[in-house]
Amino acid sequence: MTAASALSLLPVAIRRPSSKRYSKKGDGRVGFRVFAVFGEEDVGGIQKKSTWEAIFEVEDPRPRVPLSKGKFIDANQALEVARFDIQYCDWRARQDLLTIMILHDKVVEVLNPLAREFKSVGTIKKELAQLQQELAQAHRQVHISEARVSTALDKLAYMETLVNGRLLQDKNTNESSSDIISPTPSTSSVSMDTVKTASPRKSLNVSGPVKPYHPSLKNFWYPVAFSGDLKEDTMIPIDCFEEPWVIFRGKDGKPGCLQNTCAHRACPLHLGSVNEGRIQCPYHGWEYSTDGKCEKMPSTRKLNVQIKSLPCFENEGMVWIWPGDEPPMAILPSLQPPPGFQIHAEIVMELPVEHGLLLDNLLDLAHAPFTHTSTFAKGWSVPSLVKFLTPSSGLQGYWDPYPIDMEFKPPCMVLSTIGISKPGKLEGQNTRECSTHLHQLHVCLPSSRGKTRLLYRMSLDFAPILKHVPMMHLLWRHFAEKVLNEDLRLVLGQQDRMIRGANIWNLPVSYDKLGIRYRLWREAVERGDKQLPFSNQEHE
Ligand code: FES
Ligand SMILES: [Fe+2]
Repeated sequence: MTAASALSLLPVAIRRPSSKRYSKKGDGRVGFRVFAVFGEEDVGGIQKKSTWEAIFEVEDPRPRVPLSKGKFIDANQALEVARFDIQYCDWRARQDLLTIMILHDKVVEVLNPLAREFKSVGTIKKELAQLQQELAQAHRQVHISEARVSTALDKLAYMETLVNGRLLQDKNTNESSSDIISPTPSTSSVSMDTVKTASPRKSLNVSGPVKPYHPSLKNFWYPVAFSGDLKEDTMIPIDCFEEPWVIFRGKDGKPGCLQNTCAHRACPLHLGSVNEGRIQCPYHGWEYSTDGKCEKMPSTRKLNVQIKSLPCFENEGMVWIWPGDEPPMAILPSLQPPPGFQIHAEIVMELPVEHGLLLDNLLDLAHAPFTHTSTFAKGWSVPSLVKFLTPSSGLQGYWDPYPIDMEFKPPCMVLSTIGISKPGKLEGQNTRECSTHLHQLHVCLPSSRGKTRLLYRMSLDFAPILKHVPMMHLLWRHFAEKVLNEDLRLVLGQQDRMIRGANIWNLPVSYDKLGIRYRLWREAVERGDKQLPFSNQEHE
């Protein structure tokens, strides 16, 4: 279903009008009738006086009520239905008032001393008892109308919120409607009476068990390690797309990436050692060069053996691999901080969450004053409105009211520049207004199922002295872990709910824009779209 349009009808149940009319039989006075209100009790035998017609002569809106109950409608249709609701409330209120006024007249008439002379006490009592009943009924009707007005107002308020959100989005981003997402009804916990915005929407449903990674996602360059961590004789074991790999340096100093499983009897190679640019299996000593060729097989006749290797390069202080089957792209993305920044910390963490969930989290800043109350957002007030301002085709922009620029860099990187006055304090409304900045890179590598290898790099454009403070890197690590732990417990909770079937993108709002764009980008990759959204590039 195009989810988007798939929103069910409004809470106010508008029923077709009854065609039944009520009039007092044999009454010789000027004819006027009150139509039965639909589905409500017969107000019975009541007529209106022609002198009040000017007040009560409002067109009955019911014959024009859109037939929408039980159907999915868009916002324009919903607005139309709401308009009829209000018209009906107005008409209904006039009818209620008319009923009460007529009953009042009747009471006066019954109690009229002149009329009383022609009636027995018994007849008058009977008529008054009847009028009392009718008045009670009219009161009930007024209560029903009150409830109806209240529902109509609630509905209008909700629609106003939606429309404002939409206008805000349009105004601030000039974006196309293509990235506006509606919850997927199958998993939505939102009432089916909810009304959403009008334009065509795409569905976004991220729920259920963590699935195997889609092969299309592999056809990108992935940073997997910091160059500084890969010494001449070290090995870095990594999982990438659920396969075990090991990174080490060859004889020429260039990095290589091999399957982390020996061809002989499947021993993990990273348990061995690196000798003269070859990785040696610790079990029987087979040695492999960075292209995967087995160069040494001690104690036996050498066989021609080659294990799987991946394209592997070093660029801007990081080691990159290409895990896909397609030919690698010619250009590696640049993740460098802008000129003037110095790198102060490079941290690697293995986290027990699916990398998409972590990216969603990193691309969201609106959570900061609620989640990071012990770290960088301590003391932040909650803004009345948080926006991410971005061009329509972009995966980068800046947060309002925070002085933070942010970019999602496919396939799994987040770059952010934060204007600060002193650690933990933001300054100004705009990063360009700030004199000092912190730059962050987060790489969320899909490792094994439901796990992420996170590479974090932090750079500053001030206080270069901090680089030379002993143990400073431990402090940075401590701070980074503290911030991450604030997120992690929430993201782990989301993962749990997702596995149990909840849609983690059930009800996105305007500040979710960047996360949504990441999801749309990822969906397009997984669908195999040639033109990927927001990138202005073809995916070769
Ligand atoms: S398992 Fe690696 S050499 Fe035997
Ligand atoms: Fe966070």
